[in-house]
Amino acid sequence: MVELPQVNEQPRPASTEVGSYFVANYPPFSAWSPEHLPAAIEVLDSPRGDGDEAPLGLYLHIPFCRKRCRFCYFRVYTDKNGSDVDVYMDALAREVALYAERPRLAGRDFEFVYFGGGTPSFLSSQQLLRLVDRINRHWTWDAAREVTFECEPGTLKKSKLETIRQIGVTRLSLGVEHFDDEVLEQNGRAHKSPEIFRAYEWAREVGFSQINIDLIAGMVGETEAKWRDTVEKALQLDPDCLTIYQMELPHNTVISRETQAAGGASPVADWETKRRWVDHAFSVFEQAGYVVSSGYTLVKPTDASDFVYRDSLWHGADLVGTGVASFGHVGGVHMQNVDQWDQYVSTLARGELPLNRALPTSKRERLIREMILQMKLGRLDAGYFRGKFGVEIVDVFREGFDSLVAEGFAEIDGDAIRLTRPGLLRVDGLLPRFSEPAHRGARYT
Ligand SMILES: C[S@@+](CC[C@H](N)C(=O)[O-])C[C@H]1O[C@@H](n2cnc3c(N)ncnc32)[C@H](O)[C@@H]1O
Repeated sequence: MVELPQVNEQPRPASTEVGSYFVANYPPFSAWSPEHLPAAIEVLDSPRGDGDEAPLGLYLHIPFCRKRCRFCYFRVYTDKNGSDVDVYMDALAREVALYAERPRLAGRDFEFVYFGGGTPSFLSSQQLLRLVDRINRHWTWDAAREVTFECEPGTLKKSKLETIRQIGVTRLSLGVEHFDDEVLEQNGRAHKSPEIFRAYEWAREVGFSQINIDLIAGMVGETEAKWRDTVEKALQLDPDCLTIYQMELPHNTVISRETQAAGGASPVADWETKRRWVDHAFSVFEQAGYVVSSGYTLVKPTDASDFVYRDSLWHGADLVGTGVASFGHVGGVHMQNVDQWDQYVSTLARGELPLNRALPTSKRERLIREMILQMKLGRLDAGYFRGKFGVEIVDVFREGFDSLVAEGFAEIDGDAIRLTRPGLLRVDGLLPRFSEPAHRGARYT
């Protein structure tokens, strides 16, 4: 998924006010800039050195949706027709082809692929097959351990799911969000609950190695009873993986704009209530045998319970980010594409990469990045950082870790640093204390 640049490192008020909260990367996007683009080109044009064995992933941003959700903050379009989609697919395939030739990337296999959105399942079977055929002339994902595909339930048919399976998708991710039709309607979702059950059943019949469902705690209209019912229904579906986001209101959502126009009273439950709701879901799923695998995720502990995309990225993998507004990371350099359709399409038509801004990272920034991203898993292994960065993180970041322990949000036992459940439920709010001063208080840009 392509998040628009965001990071709000101010202390959070208890109510869900307009502003970002989810920490998606480090250094924050506001530190990336066009002046660093030469560093991105340089790294892409330099061959891989010895010992540079980061796994490689591919992110493909499919920015189309049937409807814009009222809480959505991603770069998506709801007004594009079939020929617009063809133009975009053409640009996307060209972009992959351009990356495939770069010395830093040429000949490397993808470890993971992620079709994010927007709504990849907005594409018809035909559009999807054509896209994959064009991309695979330059680069295949035959060796990938995981290929994820995000879906909006109401866009699926059994035949489309068969196509999705046919192109190599192993992990299907369904944006369920809630099971109550009134809540779905109030939040502008394009689907209703019957479409969820139908799509899920087809997906099971088609047979994916892993099916994830996304829920959001704190949608507009959420109540205690409705949340409990949604958690119960999610459990009955028996997914392999469940992701629960706490609703946030970045500046560019419809709800945020309406909230500000109306004087600021938030229609979203406060943070404490959302944490209690996620905690309830965690307990119900744990009782059913699931394991909490991050601040947002529960998995059935089977052989196929890995989430390769997340775990690779959070351990410093390279990522080729393609599509409008996508971001990537290669050889220690962050890079992000232009976020305007016309510019994206015309730059690729000229045969150039549509990069807009970049940031070469220092070793310390890479260390902090991995540390705060892995903290979202709820556990850190100090030995991993000793081996990779040659530092004792508990010493280097003593103030930060001491404060987490003193506040009851973490426990340290030798090399094992674990977040407590209250810590895990508010993990994004705990991360800014590990930022370097220059990146503290960074705001949404
Ligand atoms: C990029 S979106 C793609 C969803 C897909 N288009 C669909 O309709 O199912 C990925 C996920 O981000 C989460 N999400 C989106 N906006 C959010 C917000 N404001 N707060 C919390 N989570 C959000 C939702 O759970 C959503 O399924």
